[in-house]
Amino acid sequence: MTTDLLWSPPCPGTGMSPNLRLNEIVTDRRRHGLDTLHLGFGEARLPLVPELEEVLAGAAADTAYAPVAGTPAAREAVAGYFRRRRLPTHPAQVVLAPGSKPLLFAVFTALGGDVYLPAPCWNSYAPQVALSGRAPVPVPIGGTYGGLPDPALLERRIGEDLRRGVRPAAVVVNSPDNPTGTSVPREAMRELCRVARDAGLTLVSDEIYRDLHHEGGDRFASPAELAPERTVVCTGLSKSLAIGGWRIGGARFPAGASGAGLRDRTLAVASEVWSALAAPMQAVAAYAFAEPPAITERLRRSARMHGSVSRACHTICRSHGAAARRPTAGFYVYADFEARRRDLARHGVVDSASLAQQLLDRFGIAVLGGHHLGDDPRRLAFKVATTGFVGETPEEQSAALDAADAAGLPHVRRRLRWLDSALAALTAPPTDWTR
Ligand SMILES: Cc1ncc(COP(=O)(O)O)c(C=O)c1O
Repeated sequence: MTTDLLWSPPCPGTGMSPNLRLNEIVTDRRRHGLDTLHLGFGEARLPLVPELEEVLAGAAADTAYAPVAGTPAAREAVAGYFRRRRLPTHPAQVVLAPGSKPLLFAVFTALGGDVYLPAPCWNSYAPQVALSGRAPVPVPIGGTYGGLPDPALLERRIGEDLRRGVRPAAVVVNSPDNPTGTSVPREAMRELCRVARDAGLTLVSDEIYRDLHHEGGDRFASPAELAPERTVVCTGLSKSLAIGGWRIGGARFPAGASGAGLRDRTLAVASEVWSALAAPMQAVAAYAFAEPPAITERLRRSARMHGSVSRACHTICRSHGAAARRPTAGFYVYADFEARRRDLARHGVVDSASLAQQLLDRFGIAVLGGHHLGDDPRRLAFKVATTGFVGETPEEQSAALDAADAAGLPHVRRRLRWLDSALAALTAPPTDWTR
């Protein structure tokens, strides 16, 4: 059984993606009868919205290849989705794909230049940029929210790069983000757009968590509103509707000639790599992106549930001395235990890899260490995907969706206590644990 979390590929993109690898480690542990709290995989894991199952069943007989960019109905639905979010969109600006992950890769490939990334960020951006033959350039996030490189640090870094003759092409923004579960305020987004515009960068805005603001409503300023001429937006249904395995993603390209050029180069990659989103999934996309009441109601309940559980997890991490941004959207908490370094060191925990490894080996808790997310490997940080608290069975998951405060449910509380006691044991000062 492989359980080695210290391992990471020698360079981005040369080994299995760490979250998928961790997922397999957890499956393996469970197969060997080891009880495991899986907080290392950003899968929403909720019961299927029944209407989606009906739409899929109705489209199952459609076995033909769909158009590369997507069917007219699906593209119109995605365009409408963006229009309802203050982004005028023609269906010609839309491309659908089997997940936003391949779409992001195709966009990076089509951009053809180095890419600035927030650090920490989702573990696949850097490998994707590297696989597209370009350099991922991490730039630290600021203090109170994640998802974008701190604009002042980015501006300084661009200045240095230009002096060295480097010509970067793009900057990634991910709001609300993985891994801090926060949303970028409008002013900061505006400042980032100014920096990107001054440097001639394209903004790649990954908005896959946009519909999961815990307090509901649309509280987010997309860079596509603030810098429409240079922003590509990627989104998908994996997180908001918990259908990651169905692989439905979409992108919105800027209007105008340069946006059309980037779309066409992205389509060229798509046509050579995945051809098209599967036809039955085009029907699902056409239904879901049109946002009928069954969908908006699910979004509302999911966001409420993720908020309750994420806040509870945040409180636990803070109570053990971690610095962690307060989560307001999505389903992640990013905790940094630097303040407990001396206590952790007594347990052999000296960096994010050994922290994640001890949580798994001693307490059966799987988290993703910050070293996999572009953070300084010495930092005592990890990401919690809070969906792991929600439950394993459809009954547990439905109860969590229905509850006004999911964190108060007995099965959720039991898992929260699991993390709580593990952190207590791992950070216990010597007077406690030598007695
Ligand atoms: C920030 C972010 N972007 C994109 C994805 C990919 O989602 P999908 O390919 O399922 O659309 C993920 C999944 O974990 C994610 O966290």
